[in-house]
Amino acid sequence: MYTNEMLESIKKVEATREARLQAVLAGNHPRRMTAEEKDQVLLENHPDHIATQFAELTIGPNKGEKVPLELAEILQANPRVKSGDIDLNNIDYDVDVLIIGGGGAGSAAAIMAHENGANVMIVTKLRHGDANTMMAEGGIQAADKPNDSPAQHYLDVMGGGHFKNVPELVYKLVNDAPLCIKWLNDLGVMFDKEEDGTMVTTHGGGTSRKRMHACKDYSGAEIMRVLRDEVQNRQIPVVDFTSAIEIIKDESGKAAGAVLMNMETKELLVARAKTVVIATGGAGRMHYQGFPTSNHYGATADGLVLAYRAGAPLLYAHTLQYHPTGAAYPSQIFGALVTEKVRSIGAQLINADGEAFMYPLETRDVCASSVIRECRRGNGVDTFDGGQGVWLDSPMIDMIHGEGTIEKRIPAMLRMYLKYGIDMRKQPILIYPTLHYQNGGIKIGKNGMSDVENLFVAGEAVGGIHGENRLMGNSLLDIIVFGRNAGINAAETAKNTQVAEKLTLSHVDDFVKEMEAAGIQTDVVSPKLLPNYTKQKSI
Ligand code: FUM
Repeated sequence: MYTNEMLESIKKVEATREARLQAVLAGNHPRRMTAEEKDQVLLENHPDHIATQFAELTIGPNKGEKVPLELAEILQANPRVKSGDIDLNNIDYDVDVLIIGGGGAGSAAAIMAHENGANVMIVTKLRHGDANTMMAEGGIQAADKPNDSPAQHYLDVMGGGHFKNVPELVYKLVNDAPLCIKWLNDLGVMFDKEEDGTMVTTHGGGTSRKRMHACKDYSGAEIMRVLRDEVQNRQIPVVDFTSAIEIIKDESGKAAGAVLMNMETKELLVARAKTVVIATGGAGRMHYQGFPTSNHYGATADGLVLAYRAGAPLLYAHTLQYHPTGAAYPSQIFGALVTEKVRSIGAQLINADGEAFMYPLETRDVCASSVIRECRRGNGVDTFDGGQGVWLDSPMIDMIHGEGTIEKRIPAMLRMYLKYGIDMRKQPILIYPTLHYQNGGIKIGKNGMSDVENLFVAGEAVGGIHGENRLMGNSLLDIIVFGRNAGINAAETAKNTQVAEKLTLSHVDDFVKEMEAAGIQTDVVSPKLLPNYTKQKSI
């Protein structure tokens, strides 16, 4: 239910709707920004450019580089376990491939490691499938239509990422994409299809072709459902409610397992493995710069902490993605994702005066920055709880495509708002950027291995694929492409790796010494594992 003030503002949106609609139907969309305009709006408004929100790392592989304050705090924090706290000879789990994380990337890695003959185990701090994959809505990109090509997809990804992307990773992303859609489809993912069986595809921000494949607006949940089933069908063991709190190495410095912690009893356990895959996902629950988040409860950058302490460098850890359309109102769903698909099927971004102030499918960083600027300019709508937002004119969707389109194509959005008495078929919805994705992460090579031997990484914990800004639908794609890749290569590497005779945490002790030498005194303990909404320090 909207306030009277909001209803007054909605009248202005309605007053301009018919003219805006006719313009769109005639092919006249709001003007796209020039390259210079994009640079300017980013520099002046994107949270990545607020220098006071970043700190320079003083220890570790990325010493001298700037990362968000909250990330610096956990990267340069006290470990939960050191040598002597645990008997590493007392092995609880012994496998070829240990996968840390039970989301889409971890599950894809587990399936392919198993397919390639490995004895594989997943460990996850919540339940199998409690992950950002499950929260993904809009779709997954792949250039598999006749008017498209991986080369075209490659250019879009590079452009969206400001050409900072690691080219060989992007090459793999786009070239494996069609195969991955087929793999998911064959496993049983129920993609939206035309009556003749062709996949329905739409645009996302920054895409030059319609290559977004979706399962209504439950794309991630549907993909996760199928991956989880496949893991279960293969009887791959999943140890849930158990976190990895430190990587274990062998005497030669290769990754050789992890120290695990039962989340309930706090019991410490030893998992020995020939290779390890970090697939711990993102960092939305770090709430960088105080932003709300679209992420799941466990998204606390754990993998970055584990890898950093083990000596693996990060790439682009200073760049985060703020999804342009988080729910700004009502407060019960503050920060929840309003899928980009709402814009890709016709809703425009409208300010408090009823003006379409931007082309709605600019890339995400540009779009989020423009929304922030519009509010800073005083053209936002007050949410009456200290926040602001702009309108996303959702009724345009049914007007463009016909009645029933919202119900058919974005039923999750419809349901989310109906719970609060807002019918997005009839009234616009209020949005503001929400912390959505960790563009940066652990540096990997083409085979998915980090700079620490036998330590692989997949999914949102990886940095470099998306440069400094990811396009919609390339995250669900990356978890499948690089999850599969990590699983295959971790299994192959395991075949040529001897079981480690002596396990060690000496790298953790060395890290602590480095902290002391740098004069870092902190009571912060990491990995953080779960957010703390009580405002006390994590223990
Ligand atoms: O807007 C969305 O549905 C989000 C998609 C993504 O982050 O890829």
